[in-house]
Amino acid sequence: MKGIILAGGKATRLRPLTSITSKQLLPVYDKPMIYYPIDTLIKAGIKDILIIIAPDYSGHFLNLLGDGKEFGAHFSYAVQKEPRGLADAFIIGKDFIGDDSVTMILGDNIFEKDFSQEISSFKSGAMVFAKKVSDPERFGVVEFDENMNAVSIEEKPQKPKSDYAVVGLYTYDNKVVEYAQNLAPSPRGEIEITDINGIYLKNGEIKVNIFDSLWEDAGTFDSLLHVSNVMAEKAKTKVEVK
Ligand code: DAU
Repeated sequence: MKGIILAGGKATRLRPLTSITSKQLLPVYDKPMIYYPIDTLIKAGIKDILIIIAPDYSGHFLNLLGDGKEFGAHFSYAVQKEPRGLADAFIIGKDFIGDDSVTMILGDNIFEKDFSQEISSFKSGAMVFAKKVSDPERFGVVEFDENMNAVSIEEKPQKPKSDYAVVGLYTYDNKVVEYAQNLAPSPRGEIEITDINGIYLKNGEIKVNIFDSLWEDAGTFDSLLHVSNVMAEKAKTKVEVK
């Protein structure tokens, strides 16, 4: 299983913070944001990791993370010139993925959960994770039937069919590369991860795992502040327990 961290994009919503470095290098309490997705992959047993970055500030990532030895992992890097969409990761990462399966995590998604059990038992098709949220219209949204089988997945629907957001951690078999290469851009001009999930759903090959622990998409000032405060609290609690 290979790992990809998608850490490109322009992050205009976080300017002026992102006028001096990349969003995924901004602090979340006491660590750069990207340490969290790195940790999520490594905890899940994934150590061969491609980090996809934007051209601006690409040197910042290399200076900070190097070849991954310090993390007990191996990092490679690829530059995405323009933010063409989340599914572009599998086109950029084609050679890196080779004949393997792949788990992609978004560089601004912060989880606490250990996904090692789910990821190590992955065999084929697609596996995504969903969490109940109060603002599903901001995300990919999965609808379930009465047996909790996924029946639809929509990207940022105006009228969400459920409260379950599809979070930024995706595991796919090798077919994802071919699916990504054949995708047409959406009305917002991106090749969408939700369209990849839609193909697996149509083929009856997607598993949706619901979870309930901490998840934050740290792409706004408020979510960045919130998750920093949560991590600060947790760090203090840990000290007290000692
Ligand atoms: O956070 C989970 C959500 O992530 C999912 O529920 C949605 O289905 C999925 O489309 C995505 O939505 P976002 O609106 O959060 O995606 P965003 O455009 O903000 O991109 C997510 C991260 O990926 C962001 O940190 C920048 C990076 N990115 C994005 C694009 C489009 C890239 O590196 N390259 C890209 O081409």
